Amino acid sequence: MENQLYFSGISRALRAMAKDSFTIRRLASNAALEADLWHAIRTLCCLTGNNGQPVSMARRDFFPRMWIDPYTKFHPNWTYVAEVKSAVVAYLTGCPDTARFSRNKLFYCTLPLLMETFLPRYRMNPDSRRFFRQALGLEKNAEECFTRDIQLEVKRKYPAHLHINVDADFRGQGVGRRLIETYTCDLRANGIPGVHLYCGPDPVAFYLRVGFQRLGSAAFRGTQVYALGLLIEGAGGIL
Ligand SMILES: CC(C)(COP(=O)(O)OP(=O)(O)OC[C@H]1O[C@@H](n2cnc3c(N)ncnc32)[C@H](O)[C@@H]1OP(=O)(O)O)[C@@H](O)C(=O)NCCC(=O)NCCS
Repeated sequence: MENQLYFSGISRALRAMAKDSFTIRRLASNAALEADLWHAIRTLCCLTGNNGQPVSMARRDFFPRMWIDPYTKFHPNWTYVAEVKSAVVAYLTGCPDTARFSRNKLFYCTLPLLMETFLPRYRMNPDSRRFFRQALGLEKNAEECFTRDIQLEVKRKYPAHLHINVDADFRGQGVGRRLIETYTCDLRANGIPGVHLYCGPDPVAFYLRVGFQRLGSAAFRGTQVYALGLLIEGAGGIL
């Protein structure tokens, strides 16, 4: 059941013909109407969330609760999927106002989830333990490793953010670029001047290729992380 929508439609033949045959869909503002799509996004998050590789089975309960559920709850209509024959092969989660999103997330996602980290099923989970330490300020997250100046620049000039993941079999076929273009087009129409993200070294070349600038880098858990931003020209509307 877990991978039904995600895998059911994807055969090897479909993968081979994916180039240019995918469609991008923006999700609805009522997530309950698209529960199957959100389920597919959560599944794909687990299959790509370990730097593009699957996270272990033991992590697949808690992991999407951190990375997907806040978007389902607050801004479902700022998430996009790429589909091939109705199967989800990629997603982009985002939001136009990161400051507001972070406040909502703290009160309505982080604090309730923090309580759950005491449940027996999460007690030995590495994600829930790290989540607990970060929520209590005992450990920095990637964003907090950047200088105050970079964090301020990000807040001021690049208020939107995004996360993107493409199924391993569909990478390098233009899916990621189309998701970013669709999202930034909608941000522009809503007057949002810029979008940012934080990432490790591997996807940096992709982001630079699709127009992002490097804003800074920092050491984080034994590797480099990068702050990247894209200014959205012609953003003249209102949110
Ligand atoms: C990074 C990722 C989202 C890119 O999506 P994608 O669909 O594979 O990328 P696209 O095919 O749309 O590539 C767009 C452009 O970037 C270039 N590009 C993509 N990956 C690249 C890489 N690793 N190095 C250099 N260029 C790259 C492509 O050549 C293409 O250039 P072009 O349009 O001028 O021909 C996808 O590979 C992925 O999900 N990776 C694993 C998870 C991940 O890292 N997610 C991001 C977390 S922050």
